[in-house]
Amino acid sequence: MILENKLNITNQVELAKIEEKISKQKAKQLFDSSDITKVEVGTFTGLSFIHAYLFADIYPFTGKLRKVNIAKGDFRFAPLMYLQQSMKHIDAMPQGNFDEIIEKYVEMNIAHPFREGNGRATRIWLDLILKT
Ligand SMILES: Nc1ncnc2c1ncn2[C@@H]1O[C@H](COP(=O)(O)OP(=O)(O)O)[C@@H](O)[C@H]1O
Ligand SMILES: [Mg+2]
Repeated sequence: MILENKLNITNQVELAKIEEKISKQKAKQLFDSSDITKVEVGTFTGLSFIHAYLFADIYPFTGKLRKVNIAKGDFRFAPLMYLQQSMKHIDAMPQGNFDEIIEKYVEMNIAHPFREGNGRATRIWLDLILKT
């Protein structure tokens, strides 16, 4: 099973390759341009902006909460029915010191709000919180 994509690619290896290439270019563009300054720091809105920025050319679901439950290895990320309230909870979490920031990042990783691309989007999101 391969994720629905805007490039109409049906081969998983090919999709992974082109997805990596495009998202890396976009990540560079995000920092090289002043677009990074538009990101709201420490909120789901900000994370959605980053996610859409990286993946909008590839996937139709960018910046939007996933509509299926997902797992990696034997870890199940937040069940769908809690996702929305989880985003509200994380928005409100403090980010005043290193421990608070890491706790917030871990909560976001456990939530895994998007269908794909959570790792890359959330690490940029973390980077911005750490820099403020
Ligand atoms: N078993 C796990 N438990 C918790 N988090 C995980 C696990 N496996 C991977 N992750 C996190 O999820 C990310 C992968 O999620 P994914 O949505 O595929 O994002 P990306 O495609 O950007 O890597 C990893 O980068 C890591 O941060
Ligand atoms: Mg992935």
